[in-house]
Amino acid sequence: MPTASRTADRPLACIVMAGGKGTRMRSALPKVLHPIWGRPLLGWVIAAVREAGAERVVVVVPPDAAEAVAAVAGDAETVIQHDQLGTGDAVRCAMPPLEGFTGDVLIVSGDTPLLTAELLGGLVDAHVADGAAATAATFQIDQPGSYGRVIRDAAGIRIVEAKDATPAELEVDEVNAGLYVFDADALRPALAGLTNDNAQGEYYLPDVVPAIAAAGGRASASLVDVASLLLGVNTRVELAEAAQIIRDRIIEQHLLAGAGIVDPATTYIDADVELEADCVVHPYTILRGRTRLAAGAEAGPHSVLTDSVLESDAQAGPFAHLRAGTHLHTGARVGAFAETKNTELGARSKIPHLSYVGDATVGEDTNIGAGNITANYDGVNKHRTTIGDRVRTGSDCVFVAPVEVGDDATTGAGSIITEDVPAEALGIARARQVNKEHYAKRKRDV
Ligand code: UD1
Ligand code: CA
Repeated sequence: MPTASRTADRPLACIVMAGGKGTRMRSALPKVLHPIWGRPLLGWVIAAVREAGAERVVVVVPPDAAEAVAAVAGDAETVIQHDQLGTGDAVRCAMPPLEGFTGDVLIVSGDTPLLTAELLGGLVDAHVADGAAATAATFQIDQPGSYGRVIRDAAGIRIVEAKDATPAELEVDEVNAGLYVFDADALRPALAGLTNDNAQGEYYLPDVVPAIAAAGGRASASLVDVASLLLGVNTRVELAEAAQIIRDRIIEQHLLAGAGIVDPATTYIDADVELEADCVVHPYTILRGRTRLAAGAEAGPHSVLTDSVLESDAQAGPFAHLRAGTHLHTGARVGAFAETKNTELGARSKIPHLSYVGDATVGEDTNIGAGNITANYDGVNKHRTTIGDRVRTGSDCVFVAPVEVGDDATTGAGSIITEDVPAEALGIARARQVNKEHYAKRKRDV
C-alpha cells in the first residue's frame, strides 16, 4: 500500500466509527451510504485512510445497516455494534478483529468525507515522532457548541463533553476533532476500564486519553489548522457542502493531470472517472461511474455519460446520453439527442442524431441515419442488433432485434428491419407510396 504522506514504518490499523443512526439526514438510507460523486461517504473515508497507509480497516456499523455497509466497505472488515452505547463502546466492538495487532490504531468517524491522506498521515507521524501512546486531533473554533472541550492543565490532557462541562470549561475554544491515534497495546486496557458515569450515560472514547496517561503512556493533543477538512456530515445541508468541496478537488486533480475541462462550474465528474491528458470535457456535462476518456476524446456540451468509454478522438455530444456499457472506438461519434446503452460503436462510425441504439454492435466506418431505433426489448428479454462495417442505414429505421445487417449493406429510409440484411444488400421494409391524383379537386367538389 503506498504511503504518500506517512514516514513511520510502524504497522497502522484503522477503526471507522459508523455505528450511529444518522437520524438528522431524514432518510431511509444509512448516513454513511449517502453518495458523493458516485462513492458513499464511508468510501471516501476508507479511501483516505488506505492512502494514509492503514493496512487493516475495521468499520463499526449499526445492525440494520450491516449488510449494505459491508457491500461498500470493500476490503475493510465490518463489525456490528448492537446498542449505541457511545464512541468508547464502538471502538471496543472493533477490537476483537484486531486481537494480536501491535502498532498504531487510527480512529476516524465514517461521516467525515473531507479527511485527506496528508492530514491523517501527518497526525500519525506527529504521534510517532512524539513517542505518544495517545494522540487526539484538536482544532480551534469560535462557537464550540456541542464539541468536546480540550482541557490542558497540570494533570495533563483530558476531554470534557459539553454536557458534562463546567461553565469555565465551556469557555475553552480548543475542541476535540473526534480523530485519534492510539498505540494498540495502550488502547486495550484503557477501553476495558471505561465507565459510563457521565451526563449521557455513554462510554466516551475521549476518556481513554487521560486513562492512557494515568497508566504511564504519553498522551498528546495535536492542533490541526485545517479544521475545514474535519467537517462531519449530519444533515443533507452538510452533505451538499462536502460534495461541493470534493467536486472542486476532483476537477482540480484532472486539470493538473492535463485533462481539458472547459467550464468547471458546470461540470460534474464522479470519483472513479478516468480522464487522459488532452481529452476535452465541454460545459454542462456529467461524467458518471467508471467513464473513461482517452486523449483527444471529447464529451459534451450538455451530455451525460455513465460507465462509458471514449477511445482516442471519439466524441459524444452535444446533447448525447451515453448509458452504461457504451464503448466508442477511435474517432467514433454520438451526436445530438442520441442515446446509447450497452453498445459498441466501431472506429469512425457515427450515430449523429435523434437515435436510440441499445444492446448493439456496430462495425467500423458505419453511419446510422437520423432517427434510427433498435427495438431491443420484447417485454421480457433484451436482444442484440449487429450492424457490420461500412453500413449506411436510412433515416428513421427500426431494427427489431435480434437482427443482423452485413458489411457494406444499406437500409432504406423508414424501414422496419425484422430480418437479417445480407452483406452488400439493400434492405427495404416499407409500404410503397401511392399517389391519388386530383385528390384536392375531388375534395372541393363534394
Ligand atoms: C464526539 C466526541 C466529541 C467530539 C466530537 C467531534 C465523544 C463522546 N465525543 O462527539 O468530544 O468533539 O465527536 O465531532 O466521542 N458512534 C458509534 N457508536 C456509538 C456512538 C457514536 O459508532 O455508540 C459513531 C457515530 O456514528 C459517529 C461517531 O461515532 O460517526 C461520533 O459520534 P457522535 O455521536 O457524532 O459524537 P459527538 O457527540 O459528535
Ligand atoms: Ca458528531
